Amino acid sequence: MKATHLYLLLQVFLSASVLVHTFAPLNLAVGVGALLWRKIDSYLHETCHPKWIALDATGLQVDLGNKMFGQHIASRIILQAVNEFMTNDNPKKPLVLSLHGSSGTGKNFVSQLIADNIYKEGMDSNFVHMFTSTLHFPHSSHLDTYKSQLQQWIKGNVSNCAQSMFIFDEMDKMHPSLIDSIKPYLDYYHKLDGVSYRKAIFIFLSNAGGEIIAQTALDFWKAGRDREKIELKDLETLLSLEAFNNKKSGLSHSSLIDNNLVDFFVPFLPLEYRHVVQCVMAEMKARGLRPDRGVADRLAKDVVYFPKSERVFSSQGCKTIEKKLKFYL
Ligand SMILES: Nc1ncnc2c1ncn2[C@@H]1O[C@H](COP(=O)(O)OP(=O)(O)OP(=O)(O)O)[C@@H](O)[C@H]1O
Ligand SMILES: *[C@@H]1O[C@H](CO)[C@@H](O)[C@H](O)[C@H]1NC(C)=O
Ligand SMILES: [Mg+2]
Repeated sequence: MKATHLYLLLQVFLSASVLVHTFAPLNLAVGVGALLWRKIDSYLHETCHPKWIALDATGLQVDLGNKMFGQHIASRIILQAVNEFMTNDNPKKPLVLSLHGSSGTGKNFVSQLIADNIYKEGMDSNFVHMFTSTLHFPHSSHLDTYKSQLQQWIKGNVSNCAQSMFIFDEMDKMHPSLIDSIKPYLDYYHKLDGVSYRKAIFIFLSNAGGEIIAQTALDFWKAGRDREKIELKDLETLLSLEAFNNKKSGLSHSSLIDNNLVDFFVPFLPLEYRHVVQCVMAEMKARGLRPDRGVADRLAKDVVYFPKSERVFSSQGCKTIEKKLKFYL
């Protein structure tokens, strides 16, 4: 606010000085001042410029390695996909990632890590947009309004800044026809109505496929095989089929999947006891407390695990840790 006021003042001053153009040195000084101010201004206010939008590849790698626990497949795919896309000057289509997994496994969390390492302002960036189905599109009777609104938003925002990011949360609760209405933006078009969407990033989050992923992880556990040995190919076909066939999921009736508009299906594995411990330790650190393994163990032991008999995976992942921690300190 202040900066814009100052800027306006300077503009007025500048126009006034044009009237006094007999006094050239002053003009020059003001001109240089204005130029300098514009420069300072672009440092203070977020603009659609590499100063504000640029991939910090090392930062993303470090964050995925240090902050995200138990997601070796997701970490690898995301790092590679984002790196490749952001270093390509001429992508043929926008980057479309579909993140799948049960509750509290890190889907929103990783979206935030991606945003943090592309946009200086992270999730607060004017170029990062998050839509939550139950919040933004709650009533199916308003579907037509939602559709045109959403299309206008995407178009308006990408026109403002090609490197916009759109996160769709609760994708499995989104109406199929609403999903289909964003399809054109994800496709291989050079331009649509004069707007190119090819530098945008779309991230879809859903619980669809979570059960299948958990089942695969459980099969590995039962066979005594290392979790880290689970590969994308163990899940990928199952996952796209599940996302497509599960009648409960909004994704099933949409043509996103059969048109190959999603570049990567990213599975999030259910988290184990040790990951819950890591989450508690991280949360203590984030609060400026000294990580205490005793506290972490006590909290992690109280979390609900499934299957009931073996208690291998945390039912809510790391989701409730933040709220619970204060009762264990
Ligand atoms: N794999 C993980 N590594 C580190 N922290 C995690 C991980 N998963 C979850 N967390 C922590 O738990 C919190 C909740 O996770 P998040 O919101 O990302 O879950 P989600 O996968 O989006 O779940 P839901 O499907 O219920 O929306 C995160 O803010 C983060 O602090
Ligand atoms: C950009 O998207 C937001 C929703 O995140 C919307 O409120 C805004 O109007 C959009 N901007 C344009 C120019 O369409
Ligand atoms: Mg979530």
